[in-house]
Amino acid sequence: MTLLALETSCDETSAAIVRAGKVLANVVSSQITLHAEYGGVVPELAAREHLKNLLPVAQSALREAGVSAAQLDAVAATQGPGLGIALLVGFKAAQSVAFALNKPFIGINHHEAHLYSPWIQSISPSPLQGERAGVRGSSVVGLTDANTPSSKPSDPSPSIPLPSEGRGKPALAADFSKFQPNVSLIVSGGHTLLVLVESELNHRVLGGTIDDAAGECFDKTGKLMGLTYPAGPVIDQLAEQGNPKAFDFPRPLLHDANDDFSFSGLKTSVRYFIRDHPELLADRKQICDLCASVQAAIIEVLVKKTIRAAKRAGVRCVTASGGVTCNRALRAELERACQKNGLALRLADKSLCTDNAAMIGILAERKLRANVPLPALDEEIKPGWALA
Ligand code: KG4
Ligand code: ZN
Repeated sequence: MTLLALETSCDETSAAIVRAGKVLANVVSSQITLHAEYGGVVPELAAREHLKNLLPVAQSALREAGVSAAQLDAVAATQGPGLGIALLVGFKAAQSVAFALNKPFIGINHHEAHLYSPWIQSISPSPLQGERAGVRGSSVVGLTDANTPSSKPSDPSPSIPLPSEGRGKPALAADFSKFQPNVSLIVSGGHTLLVLVESELNHRVLGGTIDDAAGECFDKTGKLMGLTYPAGPVIDQLAEQGNPKAFDFPRPLLHDANDDFSFSGLKTSVRYFIRDHPELLADRKQICDLCASVQAAIIEVLVKKTIRAAKRAGVRCVTASGGVTCNRALRAELERACQKNGLALRLADKSLCTDNAAMIGILAERKLRANVPLPALDEEIKPGWALA
Protein backbone atom coordinates (compact mmCIF):
# COMPACT_ATOMS: atom_id res chain seq x y z
CA MET A 1 0.00 0.00 0.00
CA THR A 2 1.41 3.42 -0.96
CA LEU A 3 -0.13 6.24 1.02
CA LEU A 4 0.02 10.04 0.89
CA ALA A 5 -0.38 11.80 4.26
CA LEU A 6 -0.85 15.53 4.85
CA GLU A 7 -0.41 17.45 8.11
CA THR A 8 -1.45 21.11 8.55
CA SER A 9 -2.78 21.26 12.12
CA CYS A 10 -0.62 24.16 13.29
CA ASP A 11 2.44 25.86 11.81
CA GLU A 12 4.10 23.05 9.86
CA THR A 13 3.03 22.10 6.35
CA SER A 14 4.01 18.51 5.82
CA ALA A 15 3.48 15.71 3.31
CA ALA A 16 4.73 12.15 3.56
CA ILE A 17 4.69 9.08 1.39
CA VAL A 18 4.52 5.83 3.36
CA ARG A 19 4.70 2.29 2.05
CA ALA A 20 4.76 -0.91 4.10
CA GLY A 21 5.82 0.87 7.28
CA LYS A 22 8.60 2.74 5.52
CA VAL A 23 8.70 6.49 5.17
CA LEU A 24 9.63 7.06 1.53
CA ALA A 25 9.51 10.82 1.97
CA ASN A 26 8.65 13.24 4.76
CA VAL A 27 8.77 16.86 3.66
CA VAL A 28 8.19 19.53 6.30
CA SER A 29 7.94 23.27 5.70
CA SER A 30 8.05 25.14 8.99
CA GLN A 31 6.48 28.57 9.49
CA ILE A 32 8.38 29.37 12.69
CA THR A 33 10.15 32.44 11.32
CA LEU A 34 6.86 33.86 10.02
CA HIS A 35 5.13 33.62 13.41
CA ALA A 36 8.19 34.60 15.47
CA GLU A 37 7.52 38.24 14.63
CA TYR A 38 4.15 37.98 16.43
CA GLY A 39 5.40 35.96 19.41
CA GLY A 40 3.07 33.04 18.64
CA VAL A 41 1.16 31.27 15.89
CA VAL A 42 -1.34 33.54 14.06
CA PRO A 43 -4.05 31.17 12.69
CA GLU A 44 -4.98 33.26 9.64
CA LEU A 45 -1.34 33.57 8.58
CA ALA A 46 -0.78 29.87 9.21
CA ALA A 47 -3.69 28.93 6.94
CA ARG A 48 -2.51 31.24 4.15
CA GLU A 49 0.99 29.79 4.40
CA HIS A 50 -0.40 26.23 4.26
CA LEU A 51 -2.37 27.17 1.14
CA LYS A 52 0.77 28.55 -0.46
CA ASN A 53 3.04 25.65 0.50
CA LEU A 54 0.89 22.53 0.47
CA LEU A 55 1.10 21.79 -3.24
CA PRO A 56 4.88 22.26 -3.57
CA VAL A 57 5.41 20.28 -0.35
CA ALA A 58 3.22 17.40 -1.59
CA GLN A 59 4.84 17.46 -5.04
CA SER A 60 8.25 17.41 -3.46
CA ALA A 61 7.27 14.39 -1.29
CA LEU A 62 6.01 12.50 -4.35
CA ARG A 63 9.16 13.37 -6.28
CA GLU A 64 11.45 12.38 -3.42
CA ALA A 65 9.60 9.08 -3.03
CA GLY A 66 9.68 8.43 -6.76
CA VAL A 67 5.92 7.89 -6.68
CA SER A 68 3.30 9.33 -9.02
CA ALA A 69 -0.19 10.33 -7.86
CA ALA A 70 -1.60 7.46 -9.92
CA GLN A 71 0.40 5.00 -7.79
CA LEU A 72 -1.26 6.09 -4.54
CA ASP A 73 -3.52 3.51 -2.88
CA ALA A 74 -4.83 5.70 -0.06
CA VAL A 75 -4.78 9.24 1.29
CA ALA A 76 -4.71 10.45 4.92
CA ALA A 77 -4.72 13.80 6.69
CA THR A 78 -4.81 15.22 10.19
CA GLN A 79 -8.46 15.78 11.12
CA GLY A 80 -7.81 17.33 14.54
CA PRO A 81 -7.09 18.62 17.06
CA GLY A 82 -5.57 21.86 15.83
CA LEU A 83 -6.29 25.30 14.44
CA GLY A 84 -9.53 25.07 12.45
CA ILE A 85 -8.54 27.10 9.42
CA ALA A 86 -5.13 25.45 9.29
CA LEU A 87 -6.58 21.93 9.52
CA LEU A 88 -9.05 22.70 6.75
CA VAL A 89 -6.31 23.23 4.19
CA GLY A 90 -4.67 19.81 4.44
CA PHE A 91 -7.83 17.89 5.28
CA LYS A 92 -9.91 19.17 2.38
CA ALA A 93 -6.99 18.86 -0.03
CA ALA A 94 -6.48 15.22 0.99
CA GLN A 95 -10.18 14.44 0.62
CA SER A 96 -10.11 16.00 -2.84
CA VAL A 97 -7.13 13.90 -3.91
CA ALA A 98 -8.84 10.74 -2.59
CA PHE A 99 -12.02 11.69 -4.45
CA ALA A 100 -10.17 12.37 -7.70
CA LEU A 101 -8.23 9.09 -7.50
CA ASN A 102 -11.20 7.15 -6.14
CA LYS A 103 -9.06 5.82 -3.28
CA PRO A 104 -9.79 5.38 0.43
CA PHE A 105 -9.38 8.41 2.69
CA ILE A 106 -8.80 8.39 6.43
CA GLY A 107 -8.73 11.29 8.93
CA ILE A 108 -6.22 10.93 11.75
CA ASN A 109 -6.13 12.28 15.30
CA HIS A 110 -2.89 14.25 15.56
CA HIS A 111 -2.22 13.13 19.14
CA GLU A 112 -2.88 9.51 18.35
CA ALA A 113 -0.23 9.83 15.63
CA HIS A 114 2.23 11.27 18.19
CA LEU A 115 1.75 8.06 20.23
CA TYR A 116 3.33 6.05 17.42
CA SER A 117 6.05 8.48 16.29
CA PRO A 118 8.60 7.03 18.80
CA TRP A 119 8.31 3.73 16.92
CA ILE A 120 9.53 5.37 13.71
CA GLN A 121 13.29 5.11 13.70
CA SER A 122 16.25 5.70 11.40
CA ILE A 123 17.15 2.44 9.74
CA SER A 124 20.76 1.33 9.85
CA PRO A 125 22.10 0.88 6.37
CA SER A 126 23.03 -2.56 5.11
CA PRO A 127 26.05 -2.34 2.77
CA LEU A 128 25.13 -5.59 1.01
CA GLN A 129 21.60 -4.49 0.17
CA GLY A 130 22.96 -1.11 -0.78
CA GLU A 131 25.23 -2.63 -3.39
CA ARG A 132 22.43 -4.82 -4.71
CA ALA A 133 20.21 -1.79 -5.01
CA GLY A 134 22.91 0.12 -6.78
CA VAL A 135 23.11 2.70 -4.04
CA ARG A 136 26.57 2.88 -2.65
CA GLY A 137 26.88 2.18 1.05
CA SER A 138 23.25 2.30 2.11
CA SER A 139 19.90 0.69 1.69
CA VAL A 140 16.73 -0.19 3.52
CA VAL A 141 16.49 -3.19 5.73
CA GLY A 142 13.13 -4.94 5.44
CA LEU A 143 11.20 -5.03 8.68
CA THR A 144 9.94 -7.94 10.68
CA ASP A 145 6.57 -6.86 11.87
CA ALA A 146 5.19 -9.08 14.59
CA ASN A 147 2.24 -6.81 15.19
CA THR A 148 0.80 -6.58 11.72
CA PRO A 149 -2.84 -7.61 12.08
CA SER A 150 -3.16 -11.17 10.88
CA SER A 151 -6.50 -10.58 9.16
CA LYS A 152 -4.64 -9.01 6.28
CA PRO A 153 -1.40 -10.24 4.78
CA SER A 154 1.52 -7.93 5.29
CA ASP A 155 2.28 -5.65 2.39
CA PRO A 156 4.02 -7.65 -0.31
CA SER A 157 6.01 -4.66 -1.56
CA PRO A 158 9.65 -5.71 -1.75
CA SER A 159 12.25 -3.96 0.33
CA ILE A 160 12.99 -1.02 -1.91
CA PRO A 161 15.74 1.54 -1.57
CA LEU A 162 14.53 4.82 -0.18
CA PRO A 163 15.00 7.72 -2.57
CA SER A 164 16.70 9.74 0.15
CA GLU A 165 19.37 7.10 0.49
CA GLY A 166 22.82 8.09 -0.57
CA ARG A 167 21.78 11.75 -0.36
CA GLY A 168 22.68 12.10 3.30
CA LYS A 169 19.13 11.87 4.68
CA PRO A 170 18.42 9.16 7.23
CA ALA A 171 15.91 6.54 6.10
CA LEU A 172 12.95 6.13 8.44
CA ALA A 173 10.68 3.17 9.08
CA ALA A 174 8.21 2.14 11.73
CA ASP A 175 9.42 -0.78 13.81
CA PHE A 176 6.47 -2.25 15.62
CA SER A 177 8.22 -5.58 16.08
CA LYS A 178 9.36 -4.49 19.53
CA PHE A 179 6.09 -2.79 20.42
CA GLN A 180 4.99 -3.25 24.01
CA PRO A 181 2.38 -1.59 26.21
CA ASN A 182 3.66 1.81 27.25
CA VAL A 183 2.94 5.09 28.92
CA SER A 184 3.39 7.84 26.37
CA LEU A 185 4.24 11.45 27.16
CA ILE A 186 3.15 13.96 24.51
CA VAL A 187 4.62 17.40 25.17
CA SER A 188 4.20 20.24 22.71
CA GLY A 189 3.35 23.92 22.57
CA GLY A 190 -0.35 23.18 22.85
CA HIS A 191 -0.57 19.95 24.82
CA THR A 192 0.83 17.93 27.69
CA LEU A 193 -0.65 14.44 27.79
CA LEU A 194 0.05 11.15 29.52
CA VAL A 195 -1.50 8.24 27.66
CA LEU A 196 -1.56 4.53 28.43
CA VAL A 197 -1.09 2.65 25.15
CA GLU A 198 -2.24 -0.87 26.03
CA SER A 199 -1.79 -2.30 22.56
CA GLU A 200 -1.65 -0.93 19.06
CA LEU A 201 -4.65 1.30 18.27
CA ASN A 202 -5.84 0.85 21.86
CA HIS A 203 -5.11 3.64 24.31
CA ARG A 204 -6.53 5.55 27.26
CA VAL A 205 -5.66 9.09 28.34
CA LEU A 206 -4.39 9.15 31.93
CA GLY A 207 -3.99 12.87 32.37
CA GLY A 208 -3.34 16.20 30.69
CA THR A 209 -2.66 19.80 31.45
CA ILE A 210 -5.38 21.72 33.22
CA ASP A 211 -4.01 25.06 31.97
CA ASP A 212 -0.79 25.84 30.07
CA ALA A 213 1.10 23.17 28.16
CA ALA A 214 4.77 22.49 28.93
CA GLY A 215 5.93 24.06 25.65
CA GLU A 216 3.76 27.10 26.35
CA CYS A 217 5.47 27.42 29.73
CA PHE A 218 8.90 27.36 28.03
CA ASP A 219 7.74 29.95 25.48
CA LYS A 220 5.98 32.28 27.94
CA THR A 221 8.67 32.26 30.63
CA GLY A 222 11.24 32.78 27.86
CA LYS A 223 9.27 35.79 26.65
CA LEU A 224 9.41 37.21 30.19
CA MET A 225 13.20 36.87 29.98
CA GLY A 226 13.22 38.69 26.62
CA LEU A 227 14.01 35.58 24.56
CA THR A 228 12.76 35.14 21.00
CA TYR A 229 9.80 32.90 20.08
CA PRO A 230 9.71 29.97 20.33
CA ALA A 231 11.78 30.20 23.50
CA GLY A 232 11.92 26.45 24.22
CA PRO A 233 15.00 25.75 22.06
CA VAL A 234 16.70 28.96 23.31
CA ILE A 235 16.14 27.99 26.95
CA ASP A 236 17.51 24.53 26.12
CA GLN A 237 20.74 26.18 24.86
CA LEU A 238 21.16 28.76 27.62
CA ALA A 239 20.27 26.30 30.39
CA GLU A 240 23.30 24.26 29.46
CA GLN A 241 25.51 27.05 30.83
CA GLY A 242 23.35 27.70 33.89
CA ASN A 243 22.86 26.27 37.38
CA PRO A 244 19.50 24.46 37.69
CA LYS A 245 19.57 24.97 41.45
CA ALA A 246 20.23 28.71 41.32
CA PHE A 247 16.56 29.63 41.82
CA ASP A 248 13.82 27.55 43.35
CA PHE A 249 10.59 27.53 41.30
CA PRO A 250 7.45 25.53 42.12
CA ARG A 251 6.83 22.03 40.78
CA PRO A 252 3.04 22.21 40.23
CA LEU A 253 0.96 19.08 40.95
CA LEU A 254 4.14 17.06 41.46
CA HIS A 255 2.79 15.35 44.55
CA ASP A 256 -0.87 15.15 43.51
CA ALA A 257 -2.07 11.60 43.03
CA ASN A 258 -3.52 12.28 39.55
CA ASP A 259 -1.69 12.26 36.22
CA ASP A 260 -2.60 15.85 35.37
CA PHE A 261 -0.24 18.76 34.83
CA SER A 262 -0.44 22.49 35.49
CA PHE A 263 2.16 25.00 34.38
CA SER A 264 0.48 28.39 34.67
CA GLY A 265 1.44 28.75 38.35
CA LEU A 266 5.08 28.20 37.48
CA LYS A 267 4.84 30.85 34.76
CA THR A 268 3.27 33.31 37.22
CA SER A 269 5.96 32.58 39.78
CA VAL A 270 8.65 33.36 37.18
CA ARG A 271 6.78 36.55 36.23
CA TYR A 272 6.80 37.82 39.85
CA PHE A 273 10.38 36.75 40.38
CA ILE A 274 11.54 38.74 37.35
CA ARG A 275 9.37 41.72 38.38
CA ASP A 276 11.09 41.72 41.77
CA HIS A 277 14.60 41.10 40.39
CA PRO A 278 14.72 42.94 37.02
CA GLU A 279 18.50 43.39 37.39
CA LEU A 280 18.94 39.66 36.67
CA LEU A 281 18.07 40.20 33.01
CA ALA A 282 21.09 42.46 32.55
CA ASP A 283 23.46 39.63 33.32
CA ARG A 284 23.92 36.75 30.86
CA LYS A 285 25.06 34.33 33.57
CA GLN A 286 21.93 35.05 35.61
CA ILE A 287 19.72 34.53 32.53
CA CYS A 288 21.39 31.16 32.01
CA ASP A 289 20.73 30.29 35.68
CA LEU A 290 17.12 31.40 35.29
CA CYS A 291 16.71 29.24 32.17
CA ALA A 292 18.29 26.23 33.87
CA SER A 293 16.10 26.65 36.98
CA VAL A 294 12.83 27.03 35.04
CA GLN A 295 13.74 24.12 32.78
CA ALA A 296 14.59 21.95 35.81
CA ALA A 297 11.17 22.64 37.35
CA ILE A 298 9.31 21.73 34.15
CA ILE A 299 11.39 18.61 33.56
CA GLU A 300 11.16 17.33 37.12
CA VAL A 301 7.35 17.40 36.94
CA LEU A 302 7.23 15.80 33.49
CA VAL A 303 9.69 13.03 34.30
CA LYS A 304 8.49 12.13 37.79
CA LYS A 305 4.83 12.05 36.79
CA THR A 306 5.59 9.99 33.68
CA ILE A 307 7.61 7.40 35.62
CA ARG A 308 4.98 7.23 38.34
CA ALA A 309 2.19 6.71 35.79
CA ALA A 310 4.19 3.95 34.08
CA LYS A 311 4.80 2.15 37.35
CA ARG A 312 1.20 2.50 38.43
CA ALA A 313 -0.04 1.19 35.07
CA GLY A 314 2.35 -1.73 35.33
CA VAL A 315 3.94 -1.15 31.90
CA ARG A 316 7.63 -1.60 31.29
CA CYS A 317 8.06 0.95 28.53
CA VAL A 318 7.86 4.74 28.32
CA THR A 319 7.71 6.74 25.09
CA ALA A 320 7.86 10.50 24.48
CA SER A 321 7.13 12.78 21.54
CA GLY A 322 6.10 16.36 20.70
CA GLY A 323 8.22 19.46 20.21
CA VAL A 324 9.40 19.69 23.83
CA THR A 325 10.89 16.19 23.49
CA CYS A 326 13.65 17.89 21.47
CA ASN A 327 14.85 19.28 24.80
CA ARG A 328 18.21 17.68 25.57
CA ALA A 329 17.88 17.83 29.35
CA LEU A 330 14.41 16.24 29.19
CA ARG A 331 15.76 13.44 26.99
CA ALA A 332 18.68 12.88 29.37
CA GLU A 333 16.49 12.92 32.49
CA LEU A 334 13.99 10.50 30.96
CA GLU A 335 16.90 8.19 30.06
CA ARG A 336 18.28 8.37 33.57
CA ALA A 337 14.92 7.88 35.32
CA CYS A 338 13.85 5.00 33.07
CA GLN A 339 17.16 3.25 33.57
CA LYS A 340 16.88 3.67 37.33
CA ASN A 341 13.37 2.22 37.31
CA GLY A 342 14.00 -0.66 34.91
CA LEU A 343 11.84 0.85 32.16
CA ALA A 344 12.57 0.76 28.45
CA LEU A 345 12.49 4.20 26.82
CA ARG A 346 11.65 5.11 23.25
CA LEU A 347 12.08 8.77 22.39
CA ALA A 348 10.82 10.09 19.08
CA ASP A 349 13.64 10.76 16.65
CA LYS A 350 14.45 14.48 16.94
CA SER A 351 13.32 15.01 13.34
CA LEU A 352 9.90 13.58 14.25
CA CYS A 353 9.34 15.26 17.65
CA THR A 354 7.80 18.29 16.00
CA ASP A 355 4.79 18.03 13.70
CA ASN A 356 5.23 15.91 10.60
CA ALA A 357 3.15 13.91 8.13
CA ALA A 358 5.27 10.75 8.52
CA MET A 359 3.58 9.89 11.82
CA ILE A 360 0.16 10.60 10.27
CA GLY A 361 0.96 8.26 7.37
CA ILE A 362 2.36 5.48 9.55
CA LEU A 363 -0.72 5.45 11.80
CA ALA A 364 -3.07 5.73 8.79
CA GLU A 365 -1.46 2.70 7.20
CA ARG A 366 -1.78 0.68 10.43
CA LYS A 367 -5.46 1.62 10.64
CA LEU A 368 -6.19 0.78 7.03
CA ARG A 369 -4.47 -2.57 7.43
CA ALA A 370 -6.55 -3.21 10.55
CA ASN A 371 -9.69 -2.52 8.49
CA VAL A 372 -10.99 0.29 10.69
CA PRO A 373 -14.26 1.74 9.36
CA LEU A 374 -13.59 4.60 6.94
CA PRO A 375 -15.37 7.92 7.38
CA ALA A 376 -17.55 9.44 4.67
CA LEU A 377 -15.52 11.42 2.16
CA ASP A 378 -17.26 14.66 3.13
CA GLU A 379 -16.47 14.40 6.84
CA GLU A 380 -15.51 17.65 8.56
CA ILE A 381 -12.41 18.61 10.53
CA LYS A 382 -12.47 18.23 14.32
CA PRO A 383 -10.43 21.13 15.77
CA GLY A 384 -11.26 20.13 19.36
CA TRP A 385 -10.87 16.37 18.89
CA ALA A 386 -9.65 15.22 22.27
CA LEU A 387 -7.90 11.88 22.60
CA ALA A 388 -10.06 9.60 24.74
O1 KG4 B 1 5.09 19.89 18.64
P1 KG4 B 1 5.40 21.30 18.31
O2 KG4 B 1 6.35 21.57 17.17
O3 KG4 B 1 4.13 22.14 17.96
C1 KG4 B 1 2.95 22.13 18.67
O4 KG4 B 1 2.88 22.88 19.66
O5 KG4 B 1 2.06 21.36 18.24
O6 KG4 B 1 5.98 21.95 19.64
C2 KG4 B 1 6.41 23.26 19.70
C3 KG4 B 1 6.84 23.54 21.13
C4 KG4 B 1 7.17 24.98 21.38
O7 KG4 B 1 6.53 25.37 22.58
C5 KG4 B 1 8.68 24.98 21.52
O8 KG4 B 1 9.17 25.99 22.37
C6 KG4 B 1 8.92 23.62 22.12
O9 KG4 B 1 8.03 22.78 21.44
N1 KG4 B 1 10.30 23.18 21.92
C7 KG4 B 1 11.19 23.03 22.92
C8 KG4 B 1 12.39 22.63 22.32
N2 KG4 B 1 12.19 22.55 20.97
C9 KG4 B 1 10.89 22.88 20.74
N3 KG4 B 1 11.04 23.18 24.24
C10 KG4 B 1 12.12 22.95 24.99
N4 KG4 B 1 13.32 22.60 24.50
C11 KG4 B 1 13.50 22.42 23.17
N5 KG4 B 1 14.68 22.06 22.70
ZN1 ZN C 1 2.04 17.84 17.51
